[in-house]
Amino acid sequence: MTQNNIFTTPEEKLELCFNSFKSKIDFKPAVALILGSGLGALADEIDVRAVLNYNEIEGFPLSTVPGHKGRFVFGYIDDVPMVIMQGRVHYYEGYSMSDVVLPTRLMRKMGAEVLFLTNASGAANPDFSAGDFMLITDQISNFVPSPLIGPNIDSLGTRFPDMSEIYSKKLRGIVKKTAEALNIKLREGVYIQLTGPNFESPSEVKMCRMLGADAIGMSTACEAIAANHAGMKIVGISCVANLGCGLTDTPLTHKEVIEAADKAAPLFKKLIKASVVNIFHEELNK
Ligand code: HPA
Repeated sequence: MTQNNIFTTPEEKLELCFNSFKSKIDFKPAVALILGSGLGALADEIDVRAVLNYNEIEGFPLSTVPGHKGRFVFGYIDDVPMVIMQGRVHYYEGYSMSDVVLPTRLMRKMGAEVLFLTNASGAANPDFSAGDFMLITDQISNFVPSPLIGPNIDSLGTRFPDMSEIYSKKLRGIVKKTAEALNIKLREGVYIQLTGPNFESPSEVKMCRMLGADAIGMSTACEAIAANHAGMKIVGISCVANLGCGLTDTPLTHKEVIEAADKAAPLFKKLIKASVVNIFHEELNK
């Protein structure tokens, strides 16, 4: 499943990937951006300086999802040095959680201080509509294993990391201000990660809502845990692609999710780009 043997520890695998990256690319990003379903085109719009396909990185887990390319794009949005993941790795593809978060950890090792997470989700909140953007305020990840299970990687972070403010209040404030300035409606809420790949049953959507979730997806929370463990500042926006099952009568398809994300993409890209620039100037490059 990965390109090296299974006896390597997560820390050794990370080191292997980092050395492979270093031997090919000379670029230090400040902000890491993970693009969700249907949002990959943003990476083609930046001032690209280098591209690294996942399959060129020794030990790297390879994405198998249609609609997800598999590469890191390095370059600039305005003057912000970025690494962008065009295509992420999902737990439902069969990877271990430590493989799923390896790219996040790798981007941390490349030098990124901020992680900007995006995804497509289904609404658990009945007030939401398809096409809404939701600033992630917090998350529920207990339906997937923690990516921190196993020997702690001390060089990244502590064994028992605090999770009281996974999504930085300060960065959230910057994104909210940015959305306001652009006149883009921005919801706020809690994201819950389930394993997928099946969409939820109506009762499961109801359960997620009862637990306090506003949006449901199959990624992101595990990456946020790994990034928080490694001391990154995190911000996340979810593109609500559909209403959760039971909130609508129509059966869900991956095609519909991609189409909805594609439709929302121009506005989403505008919000992300402006937010990245504002975060860099107000928080990193002070
Ligand atoms: N459920 C889970 N993940 C999703 C959905 C959904 O309805 N839509 C897009 N990603």
